[in-house]
Amino acid sequence: MYFEKDIIKEGNPLLRQKCSEVSLPLSSSDLEVLKNLYEYIIISANEELVKQYNIRPGVGIAAPQVGVCKRMFAMNAPDIFDSSKPPYIYAVVNPKIIAKSKEMTYLPGGEGCLSVDRETNGITPRHYSITFKAAIYDFKTNKIKYLTKTLTGFPAIVFQHEYDHLDGIMFVDKLYDHLDGIEPLFETEKTEE
Ligand code: NI
Repeated sequence: MYFEKDIIKEGNPLLRQKCSEVSLPLSSSDLEVLKNLYEYIIISANEELVKQYNIRPGVGIAAPQVGVCKRMFAMNAPDIFDSSKPPYIYAVVNPKIIAKSKEMTYLPGGEGCLSVDRETNGITPRHYSITFKAAIYDFKTNKIKYLTKTLTGFPAIVFQHEYDHLDGIMFVDKLYDHLDGIEPLFETEKTEE
């Protein structure tokens, strides 16, 4: 399990590197990192546990954010338009975005990041939908499965945010006052990511 102290912050050069591919099968140390990332985003979705562990909740966390520059992240993105649908929960290894929609969108309140502790102003353009290919670790079966999947809307935004971390890119690099011709994902206030 990672705690607030384990998460490295903006300004740390480890967040600015292009991370390397992960060797498969996963080494025990890589698996340990991935498991801890996964636990973090599972706990994040449970208010009581968030209080108990005293963590800042997030919907995604990438390995470089804990100082491990390898191409792995975990995400737990709810369907923000239909809470009866299951969230998009993945422990992602060596992802590749193989297709992107021309259509762009953004979170109207701007994005957030566990590695950015300040208030930011601005919106971040994202593809409305993406198709990824990745090795997904299943912690129920302890097996890797190879998945090709299209995400749209909020989960697609989360995926792109985390994917950027693997290339040393942060959302604060892509802050705009307004984006001409791009519709927000929804009309309302700030969403934490
Ligand atoms: Ni982030």
